[in-house]
Amino acid sequence: MNIAFFDTKPYDRQYFEKYSKETGLKFRFFEAKLNKDTVELAKNCQGVCVFVNDTVDKEVIDALYKMGIRILALRSAGYNNVDIKYAFNKIHIVRVPAYSPYAVAEHAMALLLTQVRKTHKAYIRTRDFNFSLNGMTGFDLFNKTVGVVGTGKIGKVFIDICKGFKMNVIAYDKFPDKNSDIKYVDIDTLYKQSDIISFHCPLTEETYHLINNETLKTLKDGVIIINTSRGALIDAEALIEGIRLKKIGGACLDVYEEESDVFFEDNSENALNDDTLLKLISMPNVILTSHQAFLTDEALDNIAKITVSNLNNYFKNGVCDNEVCYRCGKCEELGTHQNNKCF
Ligand code: NAI
Repeated sequence: MNIAFFDTKPYDRQYFEKYSKETGLKFRFFEAKLNKDTVELAKNCQGVCVFVNDTVDKEVIDALYKMGIRILALRSAGYNNVDIKYAFNKIHIVRVPAYSPYAVAEHAMALLLTQVRKTHKAYIRTRDFNFSLNGMTGFDLFNKTVGVVGTGKIGKVFIDICKGFKMNVIAYDKFPDKNSDIKYVDIDTLYKQSDIISFHCPLTEETYHLINNETLKTLKDGVIIINTSRGALIDAEALIEGIRLKKIGGACLDVYEEESDVFFEDNSENALNDDTLLKLISMPNVILTSHQAFLTDEALDNIAKITVSNLNNYFKNGVCDNEVCYRCGKCEELGTHQNNKCF
């Protein structure tokens, strides 16, 4: 079986090669992202593997289906880039629901610490023999209120890390974990009370632009915003305005709404064609990393192991582990979930 891997880089290929040896699967690695213009690369393949910035819309699903492809494996937890409703009854969508919540939660804290203690600036100053401390005053995390939006796997690890810093943690989740000791509040209270807000929920219609021109007004002055989830949780132009007005004290971003054309690539020789991103990067209190929160050895190993196992189980045993569909949760009740598949 041939599997077309889109948007791959040398640093993730090696992990997939390691696990492919145990299967009969053959991987064709492409640097290109999957979209309507590149979908032809999957010709003569029986499966497809994609990452967070590949576009799996109606057109791409139709093209893959025509080629006889019936399985698409996401090597990510999030699946907002796939039209799962349209894929239903055509192509099985499998994913990696968890690979290392620690990787992402620790990165969120790394960004926060860098932001409040300005270590990124100190590093550059001392390399230039500039030992001045002017403008370097930070603040203690101890006793500050952190609001966590989304208390799933990553949110919970982030909460534990914050508790280690003796921060006061409040949280909002659409589906609160009743068996936890997390102090849940409604989203308006979280916005009002938090000195720091960290987003760990998926991107859905409901969470699109959670931070916008209106919600911005309800935040505490000087709040620090952390987003390691998906760019579109935040309206970037509203964020920029909030920073300009000093409503927002700093932003720690690992994701950006329009990241798909820019992130994961070396653009150091190109003039960026995205004014919003240019503005964000130029702001002294914005720290931006290019969707790298997941990038640890442990996470990459788990992603490869689970993705290869998802594909292998489909081809070898005809079952779909870790499948997602638009009616997951109701599949069994609706009688469509059979033979360990959503349809
Ligand atoms: P999870 O599924 O374990 O937790 C998500 C939580 O969000 C759940 O508790 C859910 O109830 C909650 N939620 C759902 N809808 C909500 C809403 N409307 N408002 C508030 N909360 C809501 O997911 P996990 O593994 O913790 O991942 C969280 C997100 O992190 C993913 O959706 C993904 O977008 C992002 N992510 C980013 C990575 C990176 O490298 N930057 C890597 C992995 C995940």
